[in-house]
Amino acid sequence: MGMRTKTILCIGAGYVGGPTMAMVARQCPEYRVLVVDVDAARVHAWQSGEPPIYEPGLKELVAVSLNRNLFFSTDVAAGIAEADIIFVSVNTPTKTFGRGAGRAADLQYWEKTARQILAHARRDVIVVEKSTLPVRTAEAMERILRDSPADVGFEVLSNPEFLAEGTAVRDLENPDRVLIGGHDSASGRRAIEALIEIYAHWVPRERILTTNVWSSELSKLAANAFLAQRISSINSLSAICEATEANISEVSRAIGMDSRIGPRFLNASVGFGGSCFKKDILNLVYLCDHYGLGEVARYWEQVVLMNEYQEDRFVRKIVATMFNTVAGKRIAIFGASFKADTGDIRESPALRVCHALIEERAIVVVTDPQGLLNARRELAIYGDRVLFEDDPYAAACGAHAIALVTEWESFRTLDYQRIYAKMEKPAFVFDGRNCLDHAALYALGFNVLPVGQKSLIHQ
Ligand code: NAD
Ligand code: UGA
Repeated sequence: MGMRTKTILCIGAGYVGGPTMAMVARQCPEYRVLVVDVDAARVHAWQSGEPPIYEPGLKELVAVSLNRNLFFSTDVAAGIAEADIIFVSVNTPTKTFGRGAGRAADLQYWEKTARQILAHARRDVIVVEKSTLPVRTAEAMERILRDSPADVGFEVLSNPEFLAEGTAVRDLENPDRVLIGGHDSASGRRAIEALIEIYAHWVPRERILTTNVWSSELSKLAANAFLAQRISSINSLSAICEATEANISEVSRAIGMDSRIGPRFLNASVGFGGSCFKKDILNLVYLCDHYGLGEVARYWEQVVLMNEYQEDRFVRKIVATMFNTVAGKRIAIFGASFKADTGDIRESPALRVCHALIEERAIVVVTDPQGLLNARRELAIYGDRVLFEDDPYAAACGAHAIALVTEWESFRTLDYQRIYAKMEKPAFVFDGRNCLDHAALYALGFNVLPVGQKSLIHQ
């Protein structure tokens, strides 16, 4: 007697849903993996084998399983009807309206998904929260699903995703841990086992951690809050370095060698970006306030405020250094994406630097190896006050300054002598990532202004 092939469904084919399911499909060939999304253009891109997002190694990963046991579709209802396990990986942005606007999570896409699952499920199903959600969201999901007219049983698990963009494939292949939160009931334990069984195809059992649902939901917010806090902490110290001639790279190295602190996430920068850090911390802040924990809320809120301060400081330094005016001056922005190796520009510090410089009436020229298309769309409101160049040499030609805001490897290896020759003088480099060779640039004639390090200015 042949066993029915089990179907894993993922609702949401974005930065998380697409790569995660491509990995599951590769590692678990005996499952049918279906990813659905309401965004037809995105679905078509995945189907064509050209993923709609840039991520090293992703195209190759998708190619292994596409149309073998990995499928993409816009038919959400049909997908739900045939699913045994449903991962929900829709977006959960910050609310922009009503109560909690600017801080709370906007759960409208999430709730819509819950109702679609309720309407279309035909057999008992495990619903897995993959999206990042406020603590106790699973409870709301369960309440909606409890009213099943078709007498379908639902078990809700929390299984947050910890991948970082730019290294998504590597992170999925070799995760530090997989976290599964479930209920301590017979059906809860069965559901947890079913999910463990999937991950155990490639993740060592000792790295699969099970907790209660609320711990799992909170751990996701906590992990992002801790990571962002390290960046804000080092960035706050970079301001002291600039005031005292201490050097932030030396300070990072010195404290990072303490094995209790560790070296990672201690790179001072123009600020952290990305779709999640700010959103998730503000979500945590909102939750704290909701539970009457004002002091805790203010503590975490400061991580976001420090990040805004750092971005402001970067722009203020540009304007102050360039004789207090950038009006009419061409400034090349090296980088649009929020970090290297992604085309994602969501909450990118590059965009906020552009906004601020355009406000100062600079002529901004943006260049980026992958994020230019997204940047064009985002900055279209400024018309011809902002320009876009694929070629960094063209971007810098005729510019008074370069502001490096994304740490692309390709920016490190440019011929800066050639660039210097075509720039207005005095020529400035503002290195918002401390990733260039400052002494070498200074020797070429540039005035160099790093983050948290002594400025190198020709007199
Ligand atoms: P995304 O915007 O790239 O993708 C979400 C997708 O869901 C979109 O394509 C959207 O069209 C689709 N969608 C929304 N409502 C739908 C519905 N009712 N039916 C079908 N499709 C629907 O978002 P993302 O970056 O993949 O993030 C998803 C979640 O994962 C968020 O909660 C985020 O916080 C979390 N997360 C993101 C990352 C990351 O690196 N981007 C990492 C870890 C966790
Ligand atoms: C982050 C977390 O690292 C992931 O674990 C998490 O799953 C994800 O958020 C999420 O929930 O969305 P991501 O935002 O993709 O991943 O990228 P990070 O590598 O964390 O970088 C975030 C920002 O911090 C980038 O702008 C980066 O340039 C900046 N950063 C990072 C610094 O400024 N300094 C550092 O030392 C490290």
